[in-house]
Amino acid sequence: MKVTFRIWRQDTPAVAGSFVNYEVDGLNEDMSFLEALDQLNEELVLKGEKVVAFEYDCREGICGQCGVFINGRAHGPHNNITTCQLHMRSFQDGDTIVIEPWRAEAFPIIKDLIVDRSAFDRIVEQGGYISAKTGTAPEANAIPIGKEIADRAMDAAACIGCGACVATCKNASAALFTAAKINHLNALPQGQPEAHRRVKDMTAQMTAEGFGHCTFTGACEVECPEGISITNIAEMKSRAFKAWLLG
Ligand code: FES
Repeated sequence: MKVTFRIWRQDTPAVAGSFVNYEVDGLNEDMSFLEALDQLNEELVLKGEKVVAFEYDCREGICGQCGVFINGRAHGPHNNITTCQLHMRSFQDGDTIVIEPWRAEAFPIIKDLIVDRSAFDRIVEQGGYISAKTGTAPEANAIPIGKEIADRAMDAAACIGCGACVATCKNASAALFTAAKINHLNALPQGQPEAHRRVKDMTAQMTAEGFGHCTFTGACEVECPEGISITNIAEMKSRAFKAWLLG
């Protein structure tokens, strides 16, 4: 199959970017989207041109590195998958496919399709962990946890930090990411000692990073590769309000 990739090219954060069209022929519909970009880059190398910078690591939907906007949707035309899980069979022969980086003030562009998501790291640094003594692993059943709580914690812990929630939100809100990182710990007994401080500090950092406010449009839940529910945001807001009341 043959497609035209219309790709955002930007050399550095300091210079203006623009879209550039690249025709790529000989693609296979069973190729992953990233393999199609690999083929484009191989052709650019042979022509002596600069390759398109894009991020990836696992190519298995685990690491959250590969996110880009494809034809106006985070991670492309399907719900709840990452870009690396997208295949060329999702497009038609002759299509023009528009590829852009995540657009959010808190995610400045580094180069082409790569953005700086270190704002997420700084939110996690404020409490996305538990303080526990190290040593021998405790016996697995020493702290019994009910299935409902375990399921809730595991569902929130599935967040891979890709940033699709921010990129797709009209307010560029990081509420779904932050809520997932808070709730998976606050739901568990091990997370209780720091629960109050965690929600205060992580939501404060989220605001300080310049992310927008959540207005519950639900777009983040649709584009989240893990389908993390926006009920997590409601829970985070409730916990944040209590923390604010308690001082
Ligand atoms: S490359 Fe790891 S999730 Fe896509």
